[in-house]
Amino acid sequence: MSRSPQIVRTMPALRRALDGLRARKATLALVPTMGALHDGHVSLVRLAKRRADKVVVSIFVNPTQFAPTEDFGSYPRTWKEDVAKLAAEQVDAIWHPDAKAMYPDGFATRIVPEGAASAGLEDRFRPHFFGGVATVVAKLFTQCRPDVAVFGEKDFQQLRVVTQLSRDLDLGVRVIGSRTVRERDGLAMSSRNVYLSPEERRVAPTLYRTMKEIAGRIRAGNRIEAAVAGGAELITDAGFVLDYLEVRHAETLAPIASSRNGSKQELKDGPLRILVAAKLGKTRLIDNIGV
Ligand code: PAF
Repeated sequence: MSRSPQIVRTMPALRRALDGLRARKATLALVPTMGALHDGHVSLVRLAKRRADKVVVSIFVNPTQFAPTEDFGSYPRTWKEDVAKLAAEQVDAIWHPDAKAMYPDGFATRIVPEGAASAGLEDRFRPHFFGGVATVVAKLFTQCRPDVAVFGEKDFQQLRVVTQLSRDLDLGVRVIGSRTVRERDGLAMSSRNVYLSPEERRVAPTLYRTMKEIAGRIRAGNRIEAAVAGGAELITDAGFVLDYLEVRHAETLAPIASSRNGSKQELKDGPLRILVAAKLGKTRLIDNIGV
């Protein structure tokens, strides 16, 4: 059974909606999104529903996290379908400000995150990105004042950045990561997958398959460098232009030095995470898995 969520577009309307939702000490979860919702987002909403009494989903394509050369203008916008999906999940409210409501005239504050945000992964290729994400997420957290917020693990570095942000700024929001949802062939669900041509879509799961292969080799005791070099070759041979393919510490995102014991990699340095970003034609895909 679906129930229409309240749709709120202005700060006064949001305050009224939150006062209602917060009545009788109900706990609140926020799921921040940019819309174009797919089953990965639905899984975030379902996790949010398990962690709090009420759920607000924000839909805002945030201009400040896109460089002028990126796809802000063409980013998929599927408002009607998004509302239907959230109604089916019995979400309580959708926070859908326009750019003016989020960044009114004269807006002049930007958060510049460090730590995980300068780990040399996404930030190396999208230097503007985490400043835009941190600024909008800090605003979403202060606007909605949720107890918990749910983010997908697919954007693994982003998950680390917003976790740190909430802690550092005492925002009082517990950030929860949710497992990546994959297509049957392993491709991580992403709103940007719609950009892939049929041929690119066929090739795209190479990223996941290759990371699994690398994880297996590392677990079997092979040197990280050799496993990654082999993986990079598979990915470029499949037609991708690789931005990065790296093994990092899953908590700190620090680079992992190889071999502690002759030619055997010891995993006691872990938990390890393999992270990849690569372009296939015009589409940039990112993904990651644990070792
Ligand atoms: O992951 C996203 O969809 C966005 O980066 C987020 C967290 C909603 C901020 O705009």
